[in-house]
Amino acid sequence: MIPKNFIHDLLNRLDIVDVIERYVPLKKAGANYIACCPFHNEKSPSFTVSQNKQFYHCFGCGAHGTAIGFVMEHGGLGFVDAVEELARSAGVTVPREAPTPEQAQQHKVTPDLYEVMQSATRYYRDQLKQSAPAIDYLKRRGLSGEIALRFGIGYSPEGWQNLGSVFANYQDTSLLETGLVIENEDGKRYDRFRDRIMFPIVNARGQVIGFGGRVLDSGEPKYLNSPETVLFEKGRELYGLFQALKAIRTKRQVLVVEGYMDVVALAQHGIEYAVATLGTATTPYHVQKLLRLTDKVMFCFDGDAAGQRAAWRAMENALPQLIDGKSIGFLFLPSRHDPDSFLREHGTAAFEQLLQEALPLSSYVLRELSTQVDLRTQEGRTTLLQRAKPLLTVISAPTTALLLRKEVAALAGITQAELEALYAIKPIGASPRRALQKAARPVVSNLRVLLRCILFQPDLARELPEHWMPVGAEAAAIIALTEWSRMQEGPVSSAAMIQNFQGTVYESLLAAEQAEIMQWGETFNVVAEFQDVLARLRNEQRNQQLQVLHAKMHDTGMKGLGEQERSLYLQLLQRSELK
Ligand code: UTP
Ligand code: MN
Repeated sequence: MIPKNFIHDLLNRLDIVDVIERYVPLKKAGANYIACCPFHNEKSPSFTVSQNKQFYHCFGCGAHGTAIGFVMEHGGLGFVDAVEELARSAGVTVPREAPTPEQAQQHKVTPDLYEVMQSATRYYRDQLKQSAPAIDYLKRRGLSGEIALRFGIGYSPEGWQNLGSVFANYQDTSLLETGLVIENEDGKRYDRFRDRIMFPIVNARGQVIGFGGRVLDSGEPKYLNSPETVLFEKGRELYGLFQALKAIRTKRQVLVVEGYMDVVALAQHGIEYAVATLGTATTPYHVQKLLRLTDKVMFCFDGDAAGQRAAWRAMENALPQLIDGKSIGFLFLPSRHDPDSFLREHGTAAFEQLLQEALPLSSYVLRELSTQVDLRTQEGRTTLLQRAKPLLTVISAPTTALLLRKEVAALAGITQAELEALYAIKPIGASPRRALQKAARPVVSNLRVLLRCILFQPDLARELPEHWMPVGAEAAAIIALTEWSRMQEGPVSSAAMIQNFQGTVYESLLAAEQAEIMQWGETFNVVAEFQDVLARLRNEQRNQQLQVLHAKMHDTGMKGLGEQERSLYLQLLQRSELK
C-alpha cells in the first residue's frame, strides 16, 4: 500500500508539464499548454495541460487526469508502477505501509497472484504440447501453432488436482484467490479447469488475470470462466485487447465480437484488431476504453436473437459515451453464423465487405425504433416517441444528439422543437412526491458551477454549509468531494482531488468540469464566483420550497400545511432579503 499522503506530496513535487514533455512536445497557449493528443489521432491540438492546476484534458477524445494518470495511460502502467516511475524521476522513494484489513480486502493486487497465474499459464501451455486430442481439436478449428502461441492457448488435463504438481503448496490461499481451484463444503480442494482448452485472459499490460476454458467438442458448460477476483473484473476487461493494441492503432479501428474463438479465428484470418467481451454485455466502461484508443468502434454480433439483444444493450451503453467525430458501427452476420464460422465459410474478403457495410449507430437506432412500431398509426408514433426518449436524452455529444432528435421527430411526424418540448414536459399525473422531489432539485448549471469552484480550489469545500443537502448526481459529487477534503490534513490541490476520485462514479462528471476549468484561466476570481453561486443556490432552493408550499395552500390557505411546513413557510418568508 502506498500512503495517500505520499500521493499528494508527489503530485505537489512534480510538474505535469515536465512529465508530459518527456513523451509529448508541448506548446504554450495562453495560460495552458497544448499538443496533438497522444491518445487519439488528430491534426490540430486539442490536448490541453494546465500547469496551474496540474491536470490534462483532451477536448477531442475526453482523456483526462493528473501526472499519474498520464503515465498510467501513456505507458500502459498500473497505478503503483506509475507512481514508482514518477517517484524515481523526482528522486524520492515510495514509502510502503501495511494495509488495514479493509484496504487489503479492497485493493489487494499482490504481484505474486500474477505470478501464480503466469505459472498456471505456462503449465497449461506445456500440457497442450503433450495432448494429441487437444492439438487435434485446435487444428480442426483451423488454428495454427503460431496463433495458439500468440494467444497463449493451453490445455488443462483431466484429473482433479493437477495443479498440485505446479505449486509447492496446493493449500496456499493464492490458488483460491485466483480462482484456479475450488474448495467444497468440506474444505477439500480441486482444480477448477479440467480437460479444457485454456484461453488466458490478459490485461492491458500483458499479465494473465483469468482464463476461459472450453470443453473439447461437446459438454456443459461449453465455456467455464475464472470467477471475478481481485485481478479480474469482467465488465472492465476485453479478451484479446493486449494482442490487438498494435493493430487497433495502425488500422484505426476496433472490432468487438462475442466469443473467444471469434477473436482467435479473426486473427488467424489476418484481422488482428478484434476483441471480445467476456460473456457479459458490453459495458459503458468497455465503450469508453475503446473510444479512447481509436476513432472507430465496430460491434459484430451473431445473427441470432441473442445477438440482436446484445446489440441493443451495447447501443444503450454506448449512447452516453458517444463523442462527436468518433463513429460506432453495427454489423450483423447472417443467422446461424458467428465471425468464426462466417470466416471459415466465406473468407476474409467477404467479412471485410460486411465491415464496409456496417450500420452506423444512428441508423441502427432508427431502424430498430421504426421496425418495433407501426408508424402509419398515431399509436405507433406515440410509442416511438416514448421508446426514443430514454435513448435520446442520455446522449451528451451535441451534434449526434441533435441529428438523432431531428430524425426521430421526422419519423414521428412532428418538428424538432415539438419533440424537445415534449421530452421536457412533466408527465401528467405525476405523483405529488415525484413533483416535490423534482421541485427540490436546484437547476443543474448552478450545482455544476459550484462543483467547478470546488475542483478549482478544493479548500472552498470546507466553506459549504454543513446541512446543505440538495439531490442529484452533481450534489452527490459535491458532497463526496466535501467529505473527502474535510478529512484531509492541510491544504489540498486540485490534482490530489482529481487523482483521488479517478475511477470512481464521479470521474466523468468531474472530467467535464475539469474541461471547463481549463478555460477559466489563472486570474479567475473563484471566491467571488463561489459566493455568487451559493447565494443563487440558496435563493433557488427557497423559491422552490415556497412554490411547493404555495401549491399546497392553493385551496385551503395555511390550514393545508402541517405544523412543520407552517414553520418552514414562515422562516422562508422572513428570508426574503435573499432575493
Ligand atoms: P459462444 O457460444 O458464441 O462462443 O459464446 P464461441 O466463442 O463462438 O465458441 P465456439 O465457437 O463454440 O467455440 C460467446 C461467449 O460467451 C461466453 C464466452 O465468453 C464465449 O466466448 N460463454 C459462452 C460462456 O462464458 N460460457 C458458455 O458456456 C458459453
Ligand atoms: Mn463460435
